[in-house]
Amino acid sequence: MAIKVKCQGKEFYIKTLNTMYQMKVDEFGVLRHIWYGADTDCDMEYLLDYPDVGFSGNIYDAQNRRNYSLDTLPLEYSGAGAGDFRCPAAEIVHSDGSNALDLRFQSYNIKKGKYSIEGLPSVYADEAEAETLEICLKDTSSGVQVVLKYGVLEDQDIITRSTVICNTGDTPVKIKKAYSLCLDLPYGDWDWVHFHGRHTMERVPERAPLIHGIQESSSHRGIPSHQQNPAALLCSRDCTESEGDCIGAVLMYSGSFQTKVEYSQLNQVRMVMGINPELFCWELNAGDKFYTPEVILSFSSNGMEKLSHSFHNVIRNNVCKGKYKLIERPVLINNWEATYFDFNEERLIDIAKHASELGVDMFVMDDGWFGKRDDDCSGLGDWFVNKSKLNGGLTQLVDKIKSYGMKFGIWIEPEMVSEDSDLYRAHPDWAIQIPGRKPTRGRYQLVLDITRQDVRDYVYKVISDILNSADISYVKWDMNRSISDWYTASLPPERQGEMQHRYVLGLYELLDKLTSAFPEILFEGCCGGGGRFDAGILQYCPQIWCSDDTDAYERTIIQYGTSFFYPISTVGSHVSTVPNHQTGRITPIETRAVTAMSGSFGYELDLNTLNDKEKAAVKEQIQRFKEYGSLIHGGKYYRLSNPSKDKFALWSFVSQDEVLVHGMVFRTEPNMLRCNVKLRGLDPNEKYALNGSDKVYTGKALMEGGVLLPKTRGDYFPVELYFKKL
Ligand code: GLA
Repeated sequence: MAIKVKCQGKEFYIKTLNTMYQMKVDEFGVLRHIWYGADTDCDMEYLLDYPDVGFSGNIYDAQNRRNYSLDTLPLEYSGAGAGDFRCPAAEIVHSDGSNALDLRFQSYNIKKGKYSIEGLPSVYADEAEAETLEICLKDTSSGVQVVLKYGVLEDQDIITRSTVICNTGDTPVKIKKAYSLCLDLPYGDWDWVHFHGRHTMERVPERAPLIHGIQESSSHRGIPSHQQNPAALLCSRDCTESEGDCIGAVLMYSGSFQTKVEYSQLNQVRMVMGINPELFCWELNAGDKFYTPEVILSFSSNGMEKLSHSFHNVIRNNVCKGKYKLIERPVLINNWEATYFDFNEERLIDIAKHASELGVDMFVMDDGWFGKRDDDCSGLGDWFVNKSKLNGGLTQLVDKIKSYGMKFGIWIEPEMVSEDSDLYRAHPDWAIQIPGRKPTRGRYQLVLDITRQDVRDYVYKVISDILNSADISYVKWDMNRSISDWYTASLPPERQGEMQHRYVLGLYELLDKLTSAFPEILFEGCCGGGGRFDAGILQYCPQIWCSDDTDAYERTIIQYGTSFFYPISTVGSHVSTVPNHQTGRITPIETRAVTAMSGSFGYELDLNTLNDKEKAAVKEQIQRFKEYGSLIHGGKYYRLSNPSKDKFALWSFVSQDEVLVHGMVFRTEPNMLRCNVKLRGLDPNEKYALNGSDKVYTGKALMEGGVLLPKTRGDYFPVELYFKKL
């Protein structure tokens, strides 16, 4: 039993393999957060002793106890306007216009298994694997109830959180803010790490000590965005990859989000995370419920790599769904960087044929195959084959590809419409725009209003018609702009604040319906690369195109940041041509390959443009990926360097019997000492043989002394070292 309740239902302990979470209901019914950290096997309340802090008021029922303040106590879920002046977890406007929310304990409930969330993706687990704790809080003076849900995956050190706001009163209320997570940490010196970036440079980790006040990482773009990711870490100042305390939180949500970390007057920390409350307002009628998305939480007292392992496990096993979640993915070739919009059937077949000769499993036809689509100015929405490019239609193309022993995949961007399209001409009102204003265009395109059922039904029909029309094994589901000009005719003026969240709910409904209807198809998410790289999408698409930047050097930084939360199998990663199209950089083909192999592997160039030596290298790379694939996707991942700071980018995959080190040394200098890197996660007392040599090392030697990297020549020199335990 991971969940234990003591003291007549007033004290809650959640224990996982290595962690403990503790809460208590106090004499006023306030649910206090006591502890989240290592399992100390002790009631941790002794740490909490508060002074009378001026200007931090006291709840009425506490009478003369001036040291009892909601503004200083660690709270499990804090309501706005009732004496806690820190960042509140929820803000509700009642029918009289007031907005105080004073939450007190009502009841609790423990269930076997893991709860699910209506309309939203969430961690799933069977009854043997998980338990659920529900704690019901109620506002002192209204019918608003807040149900806190905790899903506990004991063996994985994972606790999930989500909140349900229920209106049990007689009049509607408005939800202005309802985060999924509120986490108070009364002690400790914490740094926070967030993941920022831009298009073609996503998820760059940034670590900074907390400063007093509020720091924020958020998106207002209707997607999680390239600029920030809905994931954050708090770590002790001394925390490294393998030592120190850290807490990670990742939000399973594919829309505008907000993470705030407040460092308060008493040097306490509050982290909140959930739907971005800006531009959000949800009308909750009497009797209705509102479900927040889920946050996945984990704690490690052994540094960040242990935390990453917990997130990799839970996302791979309990978030991703479907046939492909654990099996090796096909090695694919995508024609985007080979042709952009300029192709016809012969050209695609030529690319596919040469790729098949080198061992590629699947050909993916990217953007440009439909409607009038010779550039990105037109055609989106017209999901009908462009016969001037593919004169024999999809079936003829697919049959030819299949005759080379390859599978076929296709690119779509179902949420979008070009103004120059038949769809827009027929249904201009289906595009998101505000009547009387000119909409903002992004990549020349507008966004379909998938908050509307009729639009979703159309999209479902047109996409399922394509998928039924030929033998399609893979779909790349793209989304290529930030969303603005929020307005929908399907909601009255006073409910427009619901639209952003309803868009995400509409997206999930579509993804759920399509992935359920086509269980054999592998869906890959994409959003101009990694603009919607989140754990919500991963429930439907077990891999996401990580970035539109395919430069091997840049990719080491992007994939390093991505690896803090997201498993390697989820990272779509391809070898492309040189000079690289995004940066002009030239890197060896082997360097591009070892970088792309840290993911769901493929190629994105015309392999026929390679010389014979390079072609032989490609053939060999594919064989190696097939050999190492289960170690790469199933082994434990170790970040052996920080590519933004170190002279090399190195990482490793470790299983029971094997170790694979991949990466690159950035520069070769004359008379340079060979680089040395210490491995981690090995068995110190076992012996490991280095492939391709007669060298044998003890695990202890490789971890304490390290391994010498090969002698380098040139820049971006590739590294691959494979060890087998003897
Ligand atoms: C996005 C994707 C690319 C490619 C183009 C096609 O930018 O990230 O991989 O599919 O769209 O337009």
